[in-house]
Amino acid sequence: MDMDKLVSLCKRRGFLFQSSEIYGGFNGFWDYGPLGVELKRNVKEAWWRDMVLTHDELTAPAGAPEEFQMVGLDCTIIMHPQVWKCSGHYDLFHDYMVDCRETRRRYRYDQVRGRWVAFREKRVFIATELEEGAEQDTQQRALKFLNLRAKDADQLKWDGPVVSLPTVNDLSLVLAPDAKTPGTLTEPREFNLMFKTIVGALGSKDDEAFLRPETAQGIFVNFKNVLDSSRVKLPFGVAQMGKSFRNEITPRNFTFRSREFEQMEIEFFCPPDASRQWYQYWRDRRFRWYTELGLAGERLRLRDHSPDELSHYSTGTADIEYAFPFLPEGEFGELEGIAHRGDFDLRSHMEGKLNPSTRPLQLELDESGKPRWRGSGKDLTYFDADAFERDKERLGVKSFKEYVTQRQGESNPNLPYQYVPHVVEPSAGADRATLAFLCEAYNEDEAPDENGKLQSRVVLKFHPRLAPVKCAVFPLVNRDKMPETAKDLYRALKKRFNVFYDDKGAIGRRYRRQDEVGTPYCITVDGQTLQDQTVTIRDRDSLEQHRMKIDDCAAELERRLG
Ligand code: GAP
Repeated sequence: MDMDKLVSLCKRRGFLFQSSEIYGGFNGFWDYGPLGVELKRNVKEAWWRDMVLTHDELTAPAGAPEEFQMVGLDCTIIMHPQVWKCSGHYDLFHDYMVDCRETRRRYRYDQVRGRWVAFREKRVFIATELEEGAEQDTQQRALKFLNLRAKDADQLKWDGPVVSLPTVNDLSLVLAPDAKTPGTLTEPREFNLMFKTIVGALGSKDDEAFLRPETAQGIFVNFKNVLDSSRVKLPFGVAQMGKSFRNEITPRNFTFRSREFEQMEIEFFCPPDASRQWYQYWRDRRFRWYTELGLAGERLRLRDHSPDELSHYSTGTADIEYAFPFLPEGEFGELEGIAHRGDFDLRSHMEGKLNPSTRPLQLELDESGKPRWRGSGKDLTYFDADAFERDKERLGVKSFKEYVTQRQGESNPNLPYQYVPHVVEPSAGADRATLAFLCEAYNEDEAPDENGKLQSRVVLKFHPRLAPVKCAVFPLVNRDKMPETAKDLYRALKKRFNVFYDDKGAIGRRYRRQDEVGTPYCITVDGQTLQDQTVTIRDRDSLEQHRMKIDDCAAELERRLG
């Protein structure tokens, strides 16, 4: 699929616009247009409905170790700055960047790629930012740099394939992506991705706060509130969706890497000894969610991280990835990560920032032996009162205190009744999912016009749950009471679905306009309607038309939309 065609469709039909476009746009920020906002809302609503609203807490779903509860949260974007210090984001949430002294451009170190080329006694690493077409770009730039013409290309001696910049030891031999001379890149430096802001009027360092780079931390710091207020019991999940912000060094690939985006995250709290099983469950369940909404086939994959890729706290992580068309052939981009995070997060907010290089994880101390960042000091352990009540007679104790006293000297005398829960985190991006659904939906095929002649068409084959407009209603012609009847039908359906009314142009063109934005059904009021109160309903994908009673339209749509 040609990405340029999708980008232009998105702008032309109102799915996505550059933010502040009339001022030239703002890199890394995107606005959803009238159709885009419906599509993204449908993606988020499908997630919330499937993960939270319709979750049956009385039955163990297929593949789950047991039944569980799911609740939601909506936390603030700006939180107490200590949250980010204890979570590790303040010290560790950075990318490496390199600056070009010649062009003053900044690049993410791991995103610059290139190839070694030799010509006469010169050997240079020709760098590029392009993911697709890197070979062609490096060839053109090498010819330009060496003052050669296209016909001299065979004089260039390429040494190896396209590799990433971090494989190069000597940056003085690198021709930066936009530079004219080699050796202009600085050594890589750390760059924290959190956006800073000031809270209050004084504006001193003490008033510094951060826009959240993930929604997850709001859930961890509310763990006790949720536990105390909603009578949930382990295992249970807390879901949150909302905006997150990251000052990405090189935002790119449409909305894929933005500076402002939305996440849909679940923190699933469970007993430590069951956490591997829950990790497997969520990994498979989340993968299924995408396939059920239409991302099936070779372009979607579930990839387990190798041990050296795992975050310092994670004992298992898998990514759900999609082969976005803007990536080079064979490469995939992350849609969602499912991580087994152990007790890292709750312990960090209880005790303080943990030292990532310790095993088991220990509090990180400063030069004077004090905690580098103090935790809340609040008890975020879970007491399984039901299990203790059930077992206490067998254990021969009257109270939990007595039980703990009995086991004094053991490494964790509170187990298995009181512990810091382990966490499994399925963390998805609403914008990336929306983009993947758009890419997957884009199709070009042929459909007959009103004279039965085949015409090429662009069609977005969205799953009906995701389609921005569910149904369009047309009068075949603007006379003989057809518009009045069609408008009445439109008004009746509009109460329940997002329906669109169109009476402009030939019927074939109206169908095609709806196909292009992914409307799954079109209902046409024609001459026969006035005689027998029937209409036709046309299916976007099969192009089949079926006649039915006008009064049955709402029920039929309900049935088809699921
Ligand atoms: N709490 C874990 C966490 O935030 P992450 O892998 O950094 O993990 C989770 O982010 C998801 O958020 C990603 O899989 C992706 O879908 C989305 N995401 C992350 N950075 C993004 C960006 N710059 N633009 C758009 N989506 C992004």
